[in-house]
Amino acid sequence: MESITKNAISIEKVQSSKIALVDFDNLAFGSVFSDHMLVCDYRNGAWENPKIVPYGPISLAPAAKIFHYGQSIFEGMKAYKDDTDSIFLFRPKDNHKRFNISASRMSMPELPEEYFMEGLKTLLELDKAWIPQSEGSAMYIRPFMFASGEGFHASPADAYKFMICLAPSGPYFAGKVKVLIEEKYSRSANGGVGYAKTGGNYAGQFHPTQLAKSKGYHQVIWTDDHKHENIEEAGAMNIFVRIGDTLITGPTSDRILDGITRKSVLEVAESEGIKTEVRTITVTEVVAAAKDGSLKEMFGAGTAAVISPIAGFGYRDTDYELQEVENSYAALFKKRITDIQYNRAKDPFGWRV
Ligand code: COI
Repeated sequence: MESITKNAISIEKVQSSKIALVDFDNLAFGSVFSDHMLVCDYRNGAWENPKIVPYGPISLAPAAKIFHYGQSIFEGMKAYKDDTDSIFLFRPKDNHKRFNISASRMSMPELPEEYFMEGLKTLLELDKAWIPQSEGSAMYIRPFMFASGEGFHASPADAYKFMICLAPSGPYFAGKVKVLIEEKYSRSANGGVGYAKTGGNYAGQFHPTQLAKSKGYHQVIWTDDHKHENIEEAGAMNIFVRIGDTLITGPTSDRILDGITRKSVLEVAESEGIKTEVRTITVTEVVAAAKDGSLKEMFGAGTAAVISPIAGFGYRDTDYELQEVENSYAALFKKRITDIQYNRAKDPFGWRV
């Protein structure tokens, strides 16, 4: 296995920081970037030359395969600062593992854990002043890899770049979201790439999501590509449904991303004694539960959005609203998970790093 030590990462610092230009009290999601970024190249079958340089444009050949065949993968992570200025990550090795699962699906080289973790820690240490501290804000971390090797032959590239950029960010959604159950377009299919965090998976969602937005919704609920009867994901998040007091989410598969927030919710639910079912959820049962009043909550779960409560959903020209509930599961999971992330509570699961 290749290894990297901190000393092997060369660092070129910015001449003057942009931090004074940033309004940390009004951060949008993922739209300002810290001073530095990590770049590492894969050539001749090996990762080499990890470096931290000022954040800015990079140069690529027009024939780089990323532009033609979309060989690209990414991860979403966050760094949190507590009130003593200590910095924490949440289950970062799980992100690294999933990064390599995505790489393998896209015929890209695996990235050794040392490059991922040391690169990330060194970059965060350098730009730690950029990690926001206000409620609901965190440093969104975007590790990504793409094909920089050239060629129009439709086959894997021979060169890649691994990079990490940091974006101090506020909440992904401003409030509760209204979603539309999608019956025409699909996000993923059996044997496809739905479980991989590859760019095209997300680009393919833009058009149906724009159509849903034009009808007054924020996101779509993805259903299976075959009969559009099984509820699979909500936008770029995993989805949970509470019927009565039972929490339900679909099983991970070729089509459903193995979300880190998703699995954390399931573990917190278990520790709280909440009845959970990991099984197929059908549109029919959710509509029936909305009609008979047993549908108590729906929410999305993901790194960027954390826990995102759903205010209501549209299905075949009818809107179904969800009433506020006392003892909301979504609120409980959000509190338990963010208390661990921001070091406000003990971490019985060992997730905080
Ligand atoms: C995340 O939740 O971090 C994601 O990767 C979703 C992204 C589209 C913002």
